[in-house]
Amino acid sequence: MPSITIDIAPLSREQKAQIAKELTESASRITGIDPWAFYVFINEYPRDCIGVGGELLSDRRPRDISDTMNRTAALLAVLIVVAVLAVAAAVFINSPGGGQDAPPDDGTVPAGKVAVVCFSETGNTERIAKEIAGMTGGDFIRITPEVPYTAADRDYSDSGSRTRLEQNDASARPAIANSIDISGYSAVFLGYPIWYGDSPKIMWTFVETHGLEGKTVIPFCTSSSSGVGSSDDHLKALSDGGNWLGGKRFSSTASQSEIRSWISGLGLEAPA
Ligand SMILES: Cc1cc2nc3c(=O)[nH]c(=O)nc-3n(C[C@H](O)[C@H](O)[C@H](O)COP(=O)(O)O)c2cc1C
Repeated sequence: MPSITIDIAPLSREQKAQIAKELTESASRITGIDPWAFYVFINEYPRDCIGVGGELLSDRRPRDISDTMNRTAALLAVLIVVAVLAVAAAVFINSPGGGQDAPPDDGTVPAGKVAVVCFSETGNTERIAKEIAGMTGGDFIRITPEVPYTAADRDYSDSGSRTRLEQNDASARPAIANSIDISGYSAVFLGYPIWYGDSPKIMWTFVETHGLEGKTVIPFCTSSSSGVGSSDDHLKALSDGGNWLGGKRFSSTASQSEIRSWISGLGLEAPA
């Protein structure tokens, strides 16, 4: 998670919003990393909490304060440059999923009738998919790309990377290597990472080539910060039907209890 942290005396909401916006835009422009990836942490301290040369900032005369604030601003500028340089070298901290087993859920979804179909490149979505499978008694099914993605393919800072080109190409449908049969399932969880604000095009391949009509379809995704956006609607529009529930976004560190409470709230019932 590329992040920029600044420590500063209290600001108005507008000032904070402007700082977050401008730092994000500058960092994105300099590094080529998309703005959605950045977090800006603003730590505000009341002037009474800031001592300068043994004196509280709040005790200083306005001119001293503005001198100090100028120095603080200069220091801040240096910190920002350092932070931006650090950001340039930053990589997402993606911990590959361990596929831990979870205790069975309360039985709202019938065992054997649930498929948890998932595409995952760095393991985040896969971990959650395996949690869902464990909690619902469902079968975990991986979507494997025919042409594996390399780290360079996944380089979102490269405007010519494979993922970027595919996501920008409305007709791109990366082939799936494995044969997936979902005909015997009544509920299908569909998991994917968010790529450039949408689902990876291989998910489009999947929904176009696998009949979902008559099934309950539950999309979920992981991302660094983006929401589901229209990714679930796009998949639904490409499918042959089905009862699509609204998509759910998880962070890569989503806990078992968060996943469990989402599943409980879905209101899925055993088929007749
Ligand atoms: C090519 C690419 C594009 C990405 N685009 C976004 C994005 O638009 N928004 C976001 O929040 N995260 C984005 N991410 C981060 C992933 O969504 C996030 O790391 C996700 O948890 C990865 O899931 P996985 O480990 O199952 O592949 C992107 C990652 C890659 C590799």
